Amino acid sequence: MDTNVRPETMERITTPELARTFIAEQIAALQAQIGDKKVLLALSGGVDSSVVAALLIKAVGKQLVCVHVNHGLLRKGEPEQVVDVFRNQMDANLIYVDAVDRFLDKLAGVSDPETKRKIIGAEFIRVFEEEARKQSDIKFLAQGTIYPDILESADGIKAHHNVGGLPEDLQFELVEPVKLLYKDEVRVVGKELGLPDNMVYRQPFPGPGLGVRCLGAITRDRLEALRESDAILREEFAKNGLQGKVWQYFTIVPDFKSTGIRDGKRTFDWPVIIRAVNTRDAVTATVEDVPFPLLQHITARITAEVPGVNRVLYDLTPKPSGTIEWE
Ligand code: XMP
Repeated sequence: MDTNVRPETMERITTPELARTFIAEQIAALQAQIGDKKVLLALSGGVDSSVVAALLIKAVGKQLVCVHVNHGLLRKGEPEQVVDVFRNQMDANLIYVDAVDRFLDKLAGVSDPETKRKIIGAEFIRVFEEEARKQSDIKFLAQGTIYPDILESADGIKAHHNVGGLPEDLQFELVEPVKLLYKDEVRVVGKELGLPDNMVYRQPFPGPGLGVRCLGAITRDRLEALRESDAILREEFAKNGLQGKVWQYFTIVPDFKSTGIRDGKRTFDWPVIIRAVNTRDAVTATVEDVPFPLLQHITARITAEVPGVNRVLYDLTPKPSGTIEWE
């Protein structure tokens, strides 16, 4: 039997009861597979890897070694939340790697979007590999592969291996406990495992993170403006009932400045672009009709609270003709 094919008889996990049954089965299966050996997991804090971590913590406790790489391109508060949830609340074996300078130094002066993506992906593997080499007796590598990843890689659309590309001498047996689940099922399981709602119901976030929203060559000051404006947007969408309703929303900071005025003095600062879109599958997307007074309020907050920003723009472009991300 091909273990990468979802059996037709497998019921869609839509309720806490079904999630509990799945969790119990997986814990037993993980314990049988892993025994007393150690498992390594790259824990980004996204839904899939977080659910895999929570399952493994329940199944094998401290035999799981989680590695959280902070590449400096995460949203405000995310690295702190990973440490708080997994180390403090779940008592997991968590290695936190502050690789911010490493990534930003490698990316300095690089403006081509695909080159930026490649650098971020390759550097991630290098950091993870270094951490893996510091560990002894690791037998397994856990991954948050989900069913759409398997379907897409079978179609040749994309390679799904989250930490694919580790060198020959560093190959582990894979542990992929949610590989037959769809995203909505992963969320139901995550909720039942006790993960916080803002982790379980998180909007999609690209692997290269804020790196593809800090347009052109990334600089630390524009990255900071991006992180702060994104945090304000998320806070205001949550307060105004748009969190969970709008599929994906974020800010973008381009690499040009414009003239403005503040306290009677001329300024020359960056604009922040807001994007908020709805879609089913990310192939096409429509723009959310955000109430104008809310856009004005967000504009007032961003221009008052984020240093180096003097304008806010709203992207009115559906996909096509614009993609969801700007790079
Ligand atoms: P686009 O910009 O192509 O985005 O309309 C469609 C969806 O894919 C996400 N996206 C990425 N996700 N790595 C990812 O993991 C990437 O390099 C990447 N680029 C875009 C984007 O956020 C949107 O949800």
